[in-house]
Amino acid sequence: MAGRIKVGLVGIGNCFSGLIQGIEYYRQNPSQQVTGIIHDKLAGYGIHDIDFVCGFDVGENKVGKSINEAIYEYPNMVNWIPKESMPKINGKVYESPVLDGVGLWVENRVKPIKSIKTTEQIAEEIKKVIKDTGAEIIVSYLPVGSDKVTEFWAQICLDMNTAFVNCIPSFIASDEKWAKKFKEKNIPCIGDDIKGQVGATIVHRTLAKLCNDRGTKIEKTYQINVGGNTDFLNMKEQDRLISKKISKTESVQSQLDERLDDDQIYVGPSDFIPFLGNTKLMFMRIEGRQWANIPYNMEVRLEVDDKANSAGIVIDAIRLAKIALDRGIGGPIKPASAYLMKHPIEQTSDVAAKAACEKFVAGT
Ligand SMILES: NC(=O)c1ccc[n+]([C@@H]2O[C@H](COP(=O)([O-])OP(=O)(O)OC[C@H]3O[C@@H](n4cnc5c(N)ncnc54)[C@H](O)[C@@H]3O)[C@@H](O)[C@H]2O)c1
Repeated sequence: MAGRIKVGLVGIGNCFSGLIQGIEYYRQNPSQQVTGIIHDKLAGYGIHDIDFVCGFDVGENKVGKSINEAIYEYPNMVNWIPKESMPKINGKVYESPVLDGVGLWVENRVKPIKSIKTTEQIAEEIKKVIKDTGAEIIVSYLPVGSDKVTEFWAQICLDMNTAFVNCIPSFIASDEKWAKKFKEKNIPCIGDDIKGQVGATIVHRTLAKLCNDRGTKIEKTYQINVGGNTDFLNMKEQDRLISKKISKTESVQSQLDERLDDDQIYVGPSDFIPFLGNTKLMFMRIEGRQWANIPYNMEVRLEVDDKANSAGIVIDAIRLAKIALDRGIGGPIKPASAYLMKHPIEQTSDVAAKAACEKFVAGT
């Protein structure tokens, strides 16, 4: 019999708001089919078996609140379930160290608390919260560019024997040094950089693979993305984007038999358009050659709610991390990372990755 899954959240932004409001949506609408997950039950765990026992953030209007209140605080903008009808969640939001988490463009929106504590003091408080609440998996949805904060949280997980699901492109599960540490302590980690349900990356990867598998020669390709939330505002700071571009570009390159030259592929977040809110627009183009060197090209425009796109994938990542914990499996969970993340330690095709996940769940 599967039990409950106790999860701690890092970065209580729009993605977590969508994740939690989505679970409540399905609770209020039990006849609705749950979309965007592998199966309703994974080794017995369903979407309502997850308890959010603690959260961590830096926003002065989020720290100290219950998770069910904090997810509605500015600058979050997901509003699928009215705040009044969101049931109380016992987990509270605690302080995380700011480090490199808050970028230039978003600082006046996030309004980080002016802490007088050292990072070490905050780390001790966090460890106590994890111990008291029994959080067994930490999920990070930090802003892009939070490399130091991500390493801080990876170390907390190692110190506390807590599994780590890293939804952002700061490399832990796909970094050999960090992967080794998780392996040595036999702690599961799944990462890095969540791959949306039908997001820009999976669409681009799939079409690039199609063109490749059908024997055409891809000559150049681009993917540009715009949106209007703090994620996109933060990504206006080019210095924070280095690993995001690597993660997104490699995700496409990995599907090709022959890599494109670096100057023939551009994949990245491109601009912030305030009125788009959580709507993300992706524009993709592939140019190549067919029989007799005759050129072809294709263009795709994808419009999605970015927050609906990643939540189901994270629910699966949480359940797969729990299955790994139950079975005493540690280190990077390769099938889960390859299927759910843009930048796993080992890239495979999405079809192969899904089959490997199914095998992992079945225990074969
Ligand atoms: N489809 C998707 O939505 C998708 C896909 C892949 C990756 N991601 C990534 O997920 C991440 C989260 O996206 P979002 O839209 O929720 O962003 P967001 O800006 O809404 O939320 C980020 C949260 O992190 C908090 N934060 C900042 N510094 C912190 C620190 N030092 N410690 C703890 N919390 C801190 C902020 O206060 C905010 O609440 C981003 O990195 C995004 O690129 C999202």
